[in-house]
Amino acid sequence: MPAERTVQISGSTVIVRPNAEAASRVAADSIAEIVESAVKARGKAVLGLATGATPEVVYANLAARHRAGGLSFQKVVTYNLDEYYPIQPIDPLSYRSYMHRHLFSRVDLPANQAHVLDGTVPEAFVREHTAEFDRWIEADGGLDLQLLGIGRNGHIGFNEPAEWSVAEAVAAPTRLVELHPVTRADAVREFGDAAKVIPRALTMGVKQILSARAIVMLATGPRKASIVAQALRGPVTTAVPASLLQTVADRVVWILDEPAAAELGS
Ligand code: F6R
Repeated sequence: MPAERTVQISGSTVIVRPNAEAASRVAADSIAEIVESAVKARGKAVLGLATGATPEVVYANLAARHRAGGLSFQKVVTYNLDEYYPIQPIDPLSYRSYMHRHLFSRVDLPANQAHVLDGTVPEAFVREHTAEFDRWIEADGGLDLQLLGIGRNGHIGFNEPAEWSVAEAVAAPTRLVELHPVTRADAVREFGDAAKVIPRALTMGVKQILSARAIVMLATGPRKASIVAQALRGPVTTAVPASLLQTVADRVVWILDEPAAAELGS
């Protein structure tokens, strides 16, 4: 199979590149294009952003474009997918810190246009906070683009595999969730020790994710090959939350490196 290819699978466009670097460049290109076209069309661009290991190169790429003078974030509004709960924003393990390190401090995004769910909200006010987050996105006209990564268990944001119906899952709002054992195991990489992993998080709901006008899913590395194949080729099931993307397939672009595409077949 050619190392560079674009195919249609279950109604979505799937772009495959030989390595993570090249796949990340394609993702950065689509983000830059959407920023430019949305700013031109309606004066601002609203981006949903992801954290984790996968998008680090994408953010480095966007920051480089900004430094080179071609890409401005002055008219960009961002909403992050998730945040541990509870956590202080200045904690180096918070997703607020991650975004600061990888993107916010490196581009000209006005601080009051960057939204990350607040891991310090007292539990009694969490529902109000998460409902407000959804209202802010709607008041901003919805997401022009949602960037996603995929968990080894198929999670998107921290919408974890769960025993509920597809109808319930696709209507799920932003909310407080318990992290799945696979997600907690993978988080040991960041926290250094299983006992230190924060077991809960605030996550954007599937409803907001699926409402984005464009969805870019970036997955790289051999550890993602099996779940990518299940999400793209398998049935739509809440056991694999990323398979819910098939319900809005024509708005979704999967960008994969060759190792992550390895189990897709031809
Ligand atoms: C992060 C997020 C998660 C990650 C996923 C993949 O904001 O919402 O769904 O995208 O866990 O993480 P990495 O890229 O570290 O493999």
